[in-house]
Amino acid sequence: MRIAVCPGSFDPVTFGHRDIVYRAASLFDKVIVLVTNNLYKRPAFTIKERLVFLERITTGLPNVVIDHWDGLIAEYVKEIGACAIVKGLRAVSDFEYEFQMALANKMLYDGAETVFLTTSAENMYLSSSAVKQIAAYGGDISHFVPGEIIDDIKERLEKLRFDPNFKLR
Ligand code: PNS
Repeated sequence: MRIAVCPGSFDPVTFGHRDIVYRAASLFDKVIVLVTNNLYKRPAFTIKERLVFLERITTGLPNVVIDHWDGLIAEYVKEIGACAIVKGLRAVSDFEYEFQMALANKMLYDGAETVFLTTSAENMYLSSSAVKQIAAYGGDISHFVPGEIIDDIKERLEKLRFDPNFKLR
């Protein structure tokens, strides 16, 4: 069985992420969407909330499972015997960071390949950060995130906007 891991912060999941997961699900026998903590970012949603959002928007995909991991991607991939790490690539600006991570992951474990899927044109400029910023100011995020999670995102961000300890990063 060819298993792929699709890692990310998913804080929150967007149409861009969903598109990549759907396409990965058509290429591999099984896809594990792996929620991780990015040490460089301060999340707006807990791991549990991000897992629930992902569960909600992938119910129609029988070969997709959602999991979380607090450690190196390479270790998870090795442990479960995945053959690929799938990432979506948007613009040139994503490339350097993703290239560096792909090389690091290969050094840590060379039993899996990083596979880049080109983001669909309509999702080219979409990011979780933009979604959070728009939601914080009460803007319309329906073009960016699936309907099943819109209300939860709006509620959290409208609250966080007035939290003096919270900064969008
Ligand atoms: O861009 P994202 O969605 O915040 O991605 C987060 C991700 C998956 C890149 C990050 O959380 C991560 O890789 N965490 C685990 C640490 C790791 O394995 N790093 C790769 C070696 S540099």
